[in-house]
Amino acid sequence: MNSEALKQKPILIAVTGASGIIYVETLLEQLNKFNKELHIIISENAKKVIEFEKIDLTLFSNIKYSFDPKDIEAPPASGSTRYSAMIIIPCSMNTLAAISCGITLNLIHRAADCFLKQKRPLIICPRETPLSTIHLKNMLELSKAGAVIFPLMPAFYQNPKNIRELSYNLTARIIDLLGLKVMDIKDWQEIYREKRGL
Ligand SMILES: Cc1cc2nc3c(=O)[nH]c(=O)nc-3n(C[C@H](O)[C@H](O)[C@H](O)COP(=O)(O)O)c2cc1C
Repeated sequence: MNSEALKQKPILIAVTGASGIIYVETLLEQLNKFNKELHIIISENAKKVIEFEKIDLTLFSNIKYSFDPKDIEAPPASGSTRYSAMIIIPCSMNTLAAISCGITLNLIHRAADCFLKQKRPLIICPRETPLSTIHLKNMLELSKAGAVIFPLMPAFYQNPKNIRELSYNLTARIIDLLGLKVMDIKDWQEIYREKRGL
């Protein structure tokens, strides 16, 4: 399958038990605008964090399938299932470690393993601070294996007015990695030109 045909395929989103569920909300909102078919896997521990952070992810109508993380027979468990990309957001250090070691204890780990072996776009958005040598080593291994490591580190030069805007600006950068542009977000070139009156 050529890369153009692959781009038309659904996007697989995995949510794990790290803080930052608001990032999932703004990412889904942005992907909604592109009319992309979305499949989602939410880990058991992510469900607890969702409860803590009080975010309702059920509002997004473009989620076609929500797979049980224990269902190791579900389509994302096979490399023969085509997706345009997989985004793990937020990615816990636990999930990061499992994937970097090739251990597949749930459907998220297995799907990521398939993306790596099939050399397909895998975007991993870790959230932890500070980072231990083990965390850093795991990220390096995944980067070497072909994943994009996209730490959830928001920028402030766009002068976000609230947390939601901060999150929206950051997830627009993930969309950018998919070759799409969130139209209501200014890129650095636009900010620079505006600032200099160019
Ligand atoms: C409220 C809450 C916030 C958490 N935040 C983080 C975090 O930011 N990063 C992280 O690596 N783990 C975090 N954890 C711990 C993970 O949930 C835990 O390591 C879990 O085993 C991850 O499981 P999973 O990777 O299958 O989702 C948090 C746990 C809770 C309850």
